[in-house]
Amino acid sequence: MSPQPAEEGPSGGVLIVDFGAQYCQLIARRVRELGVYSRITVPERAMFTFQHMRPQAVILSGGPRSVYEHDAPTLDPLILQQGVPVLGICYGLQWMAQHTGGQVTPAQSGAEYGRTELDVLDAKDLLVGVRKNGTVWMSHGDKVAKLGPGFAVLAKSEPCPFAVVADRARKFFGLQFHPEVAHTEDGGAMLKNFVLGISQCNTNWNPGNLVDAKIAAVKKLVGSDGEVVMGLSGGVDSSVAAVLVHRAIGKRLHCVFVDNGLLRAGEREGVEQLFLDDYHMDLKVVDASERFLGELKGVSDPEQKRKIIGRIFVEVFRSEAKSLGNARFLGQGTLYPDVIESVAAHGGATSVIKSHHNVGGLPKDLDMTLVEPLRDLFKDEVRALGRQLGLPSSLVDRQPFPGPGLAVRCLGEVTREKLEPLRLADRIVREEVESRGLHKGLWQYFAVYVPQKTVGVKGDARVYEDVCVLRMVSSQDAMTADWELLPVAVLKRISNRILNEVKGFSRVCLDISSKPPATIEWE
Ligand code: XMP
Repeated sequence: MSPQPAEEGPSGGVLIVDFGAQYCQLIARRVRELGVYSRITVPERAMFTFQHMRPQAVILSGGPRSVYEHDAPTLDPLILQQGVPVLGICYGLQWMAQHTGGQVTPAQSGAEYGRTELDVLDAKDLLVGVRKNGTVWMSHGDKVAKLGPGFAVLAKSEPCPFAVVADRARKFFGLQFHPEVAHTEDGGAMLKNFVLGISQCNTNWNPGNLVDAKIAAVKKLVGSDGEVVMGLSGGVDSSVAAVLVHRAIGKRLHCVFVDNGLLRAGEREGVEQLFLDDYHMDLKVVDASERFLGELKGVSDPEQKRKIIGRIFVEVFRSEAKSLGNARFLGQGTLYPDVIESVAAHGGATSVIKSHHNVGGLPKDLDMTLVEPLRDLFKDEVRALGRQLGLPSSLVDRQPFPGPGLAVRCLGEVTREKLEPLRLADRIVREEVESRGLHKGLWQYFAVYVPQKTVGVKGDARVYEDVCVLRMVSSQDAMTADWELLPVAVLKRISNRILNEVKGFSRVCLDISSKPPATIEWE
């Protein structure tokens, strides 16, 4: 497949250099929330990307290494001579100190992890509106021991004399703590001061306004007679991408929806209703449920289940794509977090790519050119774009659903006998949550089938039936998640309905585990 050029995207905005920070994506999102375009790049490509993007500001992220190690991540110091403001965060500050005549050493007494109080000494520019003794989140084992000429201290903390520093003449700023995390009380104000106040970045980033530009880009890439084939899952990403591509090329987009027999109640019908009836798209619904369930017979190992489902999906999709002989293009709903060229993505300290999650990801040997109109957007931005395209909230705001479908919520072997009650229970959970608007505070809410017989009494007889577990979590990005408690009256109603309306369960339990250590899905 021919990849899209790495240097795509608008100019201006903020270039973020990723030194392997755990929270790099969070910095990019915070900047975009201010209406300013941001892009992440690896240190090796920073100058190249800079020349292409002509950013109005640079942020150097944190990272797990020590700047004085011989193979520590570094970038061309020319970045400091471009005349644009630079904000160094943690490792980024230490790198900047090292390249401006300062000195970095192991912290010993100055090491800080967790919350600490910031003592603001100079509340101008970067620290406008920042409370005098607010809480900030530190996580550093090295420290700046000496500042280079031109730098002054704007704030300190108990063990760290250089918590916030600045060379105002050159517009270089440094924070030893992390402004992007929620634990730093005025972190948002600091980033805003840097991006809007100090750097005066253009506030023209609005993903909802991208519709026309995205359509034009698809038209240009596909040309006047190109045909695109695309897998629709019914999820937000592939749906928004498909509607965009459809707007650009109409009937030359051919969508394929694979019914794997592991879908939720009403899923297939919903996709048909929206894309066939409402949008009049060329959509082929392939019922491959027999094949999926047949090959899953007797398989109870979770990884094996996922692999089988992924393989069959690719095989089915491939044969459908082949039957559309003319299609040279493959549409995908790839998002920015999947493509960020980050230290993390190259196997650094944090890994942002969960490859096993990308079941819709197709093999490279399809030899088609990718059309990925969402590859510079975060999930919430895709939702904004979807709204702008007029997609209904029931689709744009829907909860994520895993590629392997109900198979990862039906523990052990997947059978029709287990899927049926699971589907009914899941529908009850969705109905009760959504009809009260409770889904707005939740990332996901679903039922799990646990094939463990427990005793119950139904009518006058003893029964031994399986367990239905309810899972409700809140999350920002699925990397971490908190379990959430629905109002007790709602839980009671869900439990009553499942025990009365669904055959197969004699017990309903609540999962009160956060991630980590638990994962959101049960398999
Ligand atoms: P876990 O269970 O790892 O899930 O905490 C994190 C998020 O990813 C979703 N998920 C998947 N999505 N294919 C997908 O497309 C998968 O194989 C898959 N496994 C988990 C899960 O629903 C949650 O939102």
